Amino acid sequence: MKRTNKKLMETNVIYCGDSLDIMKDSQRFPDESVDLIYLDPPFFSQKHYEDFWIKDKTSKVGFSDKDWEKLRHSINPTTLKEYEEIEKRWKGGHHGIYVYIAYMRERLEQCWRVLKKTGSIYLHCDSHAGHYLKMMMDEVFGYDNFKNDIVWKRTHAHNDPQRFGANSDRILFYTKSNEYTFNIQYSKYDKEYIDNFFKGKDERGVYQLVILTGPNINPNDPTWKKYNPAQSGRSWSVPKRIVNKLVGKEKASKMSIKERLDLLYENNYIEISKNGVPRFKQYLDDMEGVPLQEIWIDIPPISSNSNERLGYPTQKPEALMERIIKSSSNENDIILDPFCGCGTTLAVAKKLNRKFIGVDISRTACDVMQKRVGGKVIGGESEEELRKMEPNEFARLLVVEKLKGTINPKKSGDMGIDGWIEFMTIPVQVKRWGHKVGRPEIDKFKTAIEREHKKKGLILAFDFSKDCYEEVERIKHEDKIDIQLKSVKEIFNHD
Ligand SMILES: C[S@@+](CC[C@H](N)C(=O)[O-])C[C@H]1O[C@@H](n2cnc3c(N)ncnc32)[C@H](O)[C@@H]1O
Repeated sequence: MKRTNKKLMETNVIYCGDSLDIMKDSQRFPDESVDLIYLDPPFFSQKHYEDFWIKDKTSKVGFSDKDWEKLRHSINPTTLKEYEEIEKRWKGGHHGIYVYIAYMRERLEQCWRVLKKTGSIYLHCDSHAGHYLKMMMDEVFGYDNFKNDIVWKRTHAHNDPQRFGANSDRILFYTKSNEYTFNIQYSKYDKEYIDNFFKGKDERGVYQLVILTGPNINPNDPTWKKYNPAQSGRSWSVPKRIVNKLVGKEKASKMSIKERLDLLYENNYIEISKNGVPRFKQYLDDMEGVPLQEIWIDIPPISSNSNERLGYPTQKPEALMERIIKSSSNENDIILDPFCGCGTTLAVAKKLNRKFIGVDISRTACDVMQKRVGGKVIGGESEEELRKMEPNEFARLLVVEKLKGTINPKKSGDMGIDGWIEFMTIPVQVKRWGHKVGRPEIDKFKTAIEREHKKKGLILAFDFSKDCYEEVERIKHEDKIDIQLKSVKEIFNHD
């Protein structure tokens, strides 16, 4: 038997980090290992979307206009150069657009690598960058693999001054090859359509009468109930679905046209008109609906009183993810979301018995996701990553996740208190920056503790100077205030 070294891919996990770094790890993400990718990256039009977690208001993720300029330096120079050449020739609009496209390209190339040959990818974007992304996706995934530019009506009608209301997002759907999973989804018929066409009614329900013939004459067609379709230049077309339902697929496949017509007639599925033309009674309940088209107006945004709402402004509705996941995957398939925010894709994948992998650069998002879907969070806790973390997010990780305390919701004017532990009895201060905490910081924190009328406090930092410990002892002795010092190394068990 041929042995393979291929490791089983770890699923039902959340990776904390930049999706490019995470996906590039081919040990964790082997080539052609994922069945479906949905990605909803920060849009080009988006400013920072801080304050998204209503409760602790600490994260600041996304990009501002200035950030695109900073980002230029982190992009692979070859990829960037290609786009900068185009950017030079491009006169109008915003000038970070090609940095955005270059940034996305690096990530989408990894998506292409990890996607199975039978896989599909859905890229969620908006009208600011959708058309640029389409061109890049055509290059990465192949023009012929483009399937749809789905328009999702994202908000209700609103007033946009001097233009039509911009209320839709775009979702670019590509496959990796011609052979891919696609399960047709159906939408309900309009009431108007039902009222206009389904005029008949009996004990089985409402129905419409449809012809039992198709185009072109078939010389072998039998005459049935004195009617032969050839006399009107047509041939028999007997719906298979109901025949299958009545006698089973196998038996139905062996029946002649005449036998099928007899069966339908005996079971009251055929009516003969006054002038002798047989018609099929098509019941509304037997119909699946209208095959879904590429304009989606039936999935509303998450409203302020929705049960799904987690307080994240770009959170997508579960119904949207359900439609994508059901269309392009089957049970047990692996679904990847490389920008997964508060984890909508993962939650729906789990509900539909798929395996999930999520990636997000925000530690807060990863923690919220884990609470939503379970699984484990991998990464985001090395000293290097912690030092790079945005200060509020760093404070939240330490105080809320690690010490099970409460974060101070005030972003400015927190008076030196970042949070509290032990049921709000002990104030905490978190220091992230490189320098060691020294005597002056200890003295300032002592004043903050006194202002809170407390007797204990905790400082969390990467390093403390020697005189810090002496000052803590002095304060304990003279002011009867107990300040504890805890290093980040200790909390995260770094060597
Ligand atoms: C538009 S939101 C996704 C929302 C998500 N679809 C949902 O329903 O919650 C984009 C997410 O991408 C994350 N992000 C931004 N840059 C990233 C990067 N380089 N790698 C991974 N995640 C990133 C942000 O933290 C944010 O949570």
